[in-house]
Amino acid sequence: MNINKICCIGAGYVGGPTMAVIAQKCPNIKVTVVDLNEKRIDDWNSEDLSLLPIFEPGLDEVVGEARGRNLFFSTDVDKAIEEADMVFISVNTPTKTYGRGKDMAADLKYVELCARQIAKVATTDKIVVEKSTLPVRTAEAIHNVLSETGNGVNFQILSNPEFLAEGTAIQDLLNPDRILIGGESEDAIQALVDVYSNWVDDDKILTTNVWSSELSKLVANAFLAQRVSSINSISELCEKTGANVKEVARSIGMDSRIGSKFLNASVGFGGSCFQKDILNLVYIAKTYGLNEVADYWEQVIIMNNHQKTRFTSNILSTLYNTVSGKKIAMLGWAFKKDTNDTRESAAIYVADGLLEERAQVYVYDPKVKEARVYEDINYLNTRGEEENKDLLSVVTDPYKACEDAHAIAVLTEWDEFKSYDWHKIYDKMLKPAFIFDGRGILDRAELEGIGFEYYNIGE
Ligand code: UDX
Ligand code: ADP
Repeated sequence: MNINKICCIGAGYVGGPTMAVIAQKCPNIKVTVVDLNEKRIDDWNSEDLSLLPIFEPGLDEVVGEARGRNLFFSTDVDKAIEEADMVFISVNTPTKTYGRGKDMAADLKYVELCARQIAKVATTDKIVVEKSTLPVRTAEAIHNVLSETGNGVNFQILSNPEFLAEGTAIQDLLNPDRILIGGESEDAIQALVDVYSNWVDDDKILTTNVWSSELSKLVANAFLAQRVSSINSISELCEKTGANVKEVARSIGMDSRIGSKFLNASVGFGGSCFQKDILNLVYIAKTYGLNEVADYWEQVIIMNNHQKTRFTSNILSTLYNTVSGKKIAMLGWAFKKDTNDTRESAAIYVADGLLEERAQVYVYDPKVKEARVYEDINYLNTRGEEENKDLLSVVTDPYKACEDAHAIAVLTEWDEFKSYDWHKIYDKMLKPAFIFDGRGILDRAELEGIGFEYYNIGE
């Protein structure tokens, strides 16, 4: 099977960059990314590439090269589905907020809507590719919807989970550790292998059955998140014993069986995947009555929540048990550096905890817009929007955020924070001037030399 036209439903953090790279590397394939969200599509089509809806290093260049040539962004979902040989489903699968599996299971309504739309519109055979992270056996559900409601058209379903990390998405897409394709039809699998073979070595393209592929995605994220929770649990022990978590991480990471990556203690992991996928795994395990398996993985989330709460409590107790009316500067709102994504960012929960104590919180993030910060904090529903507006301010100048502050909390590891004029910041703060480094990126000796009281996780 030869793929000439690809449609991707969902122009988000996964669909957008992934399709941009496919289009760049496969100039003979027409790639159309569609979304119901008109504003998002307009932003993808902005003349000015700095206005793309997603900030991701290198993305503007890739889009600049392919857009208008063989990469298109559109709201005409039906047309793009109809003309495509291969349709990627790359819509959001948030944790359910209602009904059975509330707060655990993945909400598949957007995926099912896509399948129904494809079934309704298609008049020619298509390969349907699951790109969104989905619970195991979703392919079966998609298959049922397509075969029951389709127009006698032949659909092949593949699972092709995405492993890119935000902030390094373009590099991850260009040089993936592996490409995973799960499916039953050899022809369909080969068609997708041929797409990736344009730039990925064959030995990195792995084919499995569809359920192994779906499960592998959940397990990869669970293992990565588990490492972060493991080192975070040790960070608390380090603080009590006088060990230093960075030294411990370096020592254990040099063991090649353990490896050095994903051992940075932090204020807690965020992002759209880790928590959602683990909850999903826990839910699936429970569904099969595997309670010990479920409890084992749930502990990763429990530890992560504890880390966020612990960070906030430490600020409170260090500031003499009251932050009421005190200005606290928060540097960073994104869930990690080099992205404007804030989903499940630890910053949101730390800010919420400080607002509960009636602190005046000033947020600065180099890439996150003011409206996003308010949406995030209002979404928690802990207090009214007016009150959030009174207590929390978003500023575009980090020095303004820190002026007259009692304390600074670093929530994201943005590189620019390291090169600030910390003398200047210290001079304008109230004394004692506290810094709580939730990412361990600042230089203790330099800051203490200036006069700061510096607190780092795991030291
Ligand atoms: C993750 C997976 O890495 C990726 O393969 C998958 O496709 C999607 O989920 P992402 O969430 O974009 O990617 O970023 P990642 O780099 O994994 O970081 C997740 C969170 O863990 C961030 O909040 C990050 O700051 C935190 N983290 C990561 C740590 O706190 N310490 C570490 O050592 C590593
Ligand atoms: P991810 O991080 O998985 O890419 P996002 O939330 O960034 O998730 O993107 C998912 C996108 O999918 C959103 O822009 C949303 O508007 C879009 N979407 C959801 N359902 C549909 C649908 N039925 N048709 C078209 N687009 C959809």
